[in-house]
Amino acid sequence: ALVVRHRMKSSGKWSRAMAILKEFEEKCGTPIPKLKQVADAMTVEMHAGLASEGGSKLKMIISYVDNLPTGDEKGLFYALDLGGTNFRVLRVLLGGKESRVVKKEYEEVSIPPHLMTESSDALFDYIASALAKFVATEGEGLHASPGRQRELGFTFSFPVRQTSISSGTLIKWTKGFSIDETVGQDVVGELTKAMERVGLDMRVAALVNDTIGTLAGGRYNNPDVVAAVILGTGTNAAYVERAHAIPKWHGLLPKSGDMVINMEWGNFRSSHLPLTEYDHALDAESLNPGEQIFEKMISGMYLGEVVRRVLLKMAEEAAIFGDDVPPKLKIPFILRTPHMSAIHHDTSPDLKVVGTKLKDILEISNTSLKMRRVIVELCDIVATRGARLSAAGIVGILKKLGRDTVKDGEKQKSVVALDGGLYEHYTKFRTCMEGTLGELLGEEVFENIVIELSNDGSGIGAALLAASHSQYLENIFM
Ligand code: GLC
Repeated sequence: ALVVRHRMKSSGKWSRAMAILKEFEEKCGTPIPKLKQVADAMTVEMHAGLASEGGSKLKMIISYVDNLPTGDEKGLFYALDLGGTNFRVLRVLLGGKESRVVKKEYEEVSIPPHLMTESSDALFDYIASALAKFVATEGEGLHASPGRQRELGFTFSFPVRQTSISSGTLIKWTKGFSIDETVGQDVVGELTKAMERVGLDMRVAALVNDTIGTLAGGRYNNPDVVAAVILGTGTNAAYVERAHAIPKWHGLLPKSGDMVINMEWGNFRSSHLPLTEYDHALDAESLNPGEQIFEKMISGMYLGEVVRRVLLKMAEEAAIFGDDVPPKLKIPFILRTPHMSAIHHDTSPDLKVVGTKLKDILEISNTSLKMRRVIVELCDIVATRGARLSAAGIVGILKKLGRDTVKDGEKQKSVVALDGGLYEHYTKFRTCMEGTLGELLGEEVFENIVIELSNDGSGIGAALLAASHSQYLENIFM
């Protein structure tokens, strides 16, 4: 072994490293024909998920939202947004058509990591008490009317089987949360009990996924919004479906004829997905093996981790960082996607940022320029694959809506509301995703597709949906 290692120090180590990189790149390939297959598979699975409960890996959850905001919504509402490492509380005064969002105030609170895996009560108590503290800061211009119960839109960004607009049971946790006892529970019940425990009198008027909130917030600002996509810690999409095209819906046909669907596309899986040995290992060692495969190839929680795994392989098998593997490189999730983004966007001629990040995060110093270039290339491969796959997902939705072609010169705009840190902050990811959409749809169709950043649409959207499901009718009929 000693001899082999010694030999690796020479140019052999480079060719081995380049072979690993090359092989990875090939396996990650997303040529247009492949992406078209992915888009088609997405459309097929959408049909299957709508046909019957459990008909597809895509849950195609019925949200009970059959009306999106119109602008008429009025009154003071709260929203609570739980779905990642932070949660947000929001207070918003809606003024109807004329004045729209009169005022909003919000606070962001980070969730101590241990609460993501400990117990249901501990998590919900923590949230409820932060909410109670926030309610206590109601001030002059922005306070609830005396004698009226406060109402909340609860954005809970995990797969939930909705039982009404304001109730639903947790199907499973995703994104690093894992508390067994919550699965199968009504999350509104859990929150309501916690609010009671901390002495907060508030009614949950709407329970929504972040994609649904984003869709609602997006529609409030632009009537052409037909779908919403989250590219953040996790990834998912929602869109407006015609209720009669949902065979598994046995309820009354809504007046609007529409029903918003939370796809839970993070759980999409297809033989056309370019999965590598690194993805399989990441999945097997994750909190939810076998689940959320699309999400694990695309979203912010995982991109940096895929990069780390390939680097580790290069360190172990090609000794690119010397004879000893840097210990930090062995720690799962140590390389976060924001670090990866910083590395990927380094434009300095000597790749200084790459050097600093490697040193600060992985305690690897004295990397050669050649080595740094390889690392940038690695980030590019992983981000490009994720961005192109998410574009294929969007095309799948547009296909389902019949909006992937131009009909008789019709120039109907289709707007997709986008939110999430990956989309907002990872420029190369964003531009690649948008470029790929153009490639897949062709210029003529792409001209009528608008991707719109809907920053914090999800919070406002939840408040808007709370307003349209308020117990006080004057909030609805004016
Ligand atoms: C995960 C959740 C999903 C959420 C998405 C984006 O995929 O399961 O409900 O919408 O992350 O936050």
